[in-house]
Amino acid sequence: MSLRRRTLLKVIVLGDSGVGKTSLMNRYVHKKFSHQYKATIGADFVTKELQIDDRLVTLQIWDTAGQERFRSLGVAFYRGADCCVLVYDVNVLRSFDTLDNWHEYFLKQANPADPKAFPFILLGNKIDIDGGNSRVVSEKKAREWCASKGGIPYFETSAKEDYNVDAAFFSIAKTALAKE
Ligand code: GTP
Ligand code: MG
Repeated sequence: MSLRRRTLLKVIVLGDSGVGKTSLMNRYVHKKFSHQYKATIGADFVTKELQIDDRLVTLQIWDTAGQERFRSLGVAFYRGADCCVLVYDVNVLRSFDTLDNWHEYFLKQANPADPKAFPFILLGNKIDIDGGNSRVVSEKKAREWCASKGGIPYFETSAKEDYNVDAAFFSIAKTALAKE
């Protein structure tokens, strides 16, 4: 076995429509941000190479549609995922309240061998809006939710301002790698 093993990690990004899933990926992979909203239809992936310790890792990040009518992915899509990234908008309570559903939905679809040990990560996005004054979900509340799910790592991000995006995806890669 070579020291520089290349590892492909499949990451699936889920969350309500409009929370910024596509924007976070565009920021991370293409270093770009657009104010325009274009709903994701079905699913699409981007890849990013990174080095973690002695490993070369290819992150295959799957962006999915938040809108139900654009979701048409069979269970095969979710099987074999190494990590699930849940995203909500800190300014939209509903997007936080539906996290339980997304969490449950993923586990049902992916059906991992050990659901309790499956790596999730939570991103609270759009913390830039109104300098944080319009947020309705506190960091404390989000961290409590993460703790209630067995200690899910949590990051607050802004795809617009490029805040914490690299750090979040690096942690996603590490979390997924740890499962290997
Ligand atoms: P679906 O594809 O429908 O599931 O939505 P999505 O989660 O992919 O949302 P998308 O990335 O398309 O972003 C929705 C809107 O929010 C767009 O108008 C983005 O410009 C905006 N947006 C995304 N991230 C941020 C952010 O960090 N800050 C601000 N201010 N706006 C953001
Ligand atoms: Mg999208």
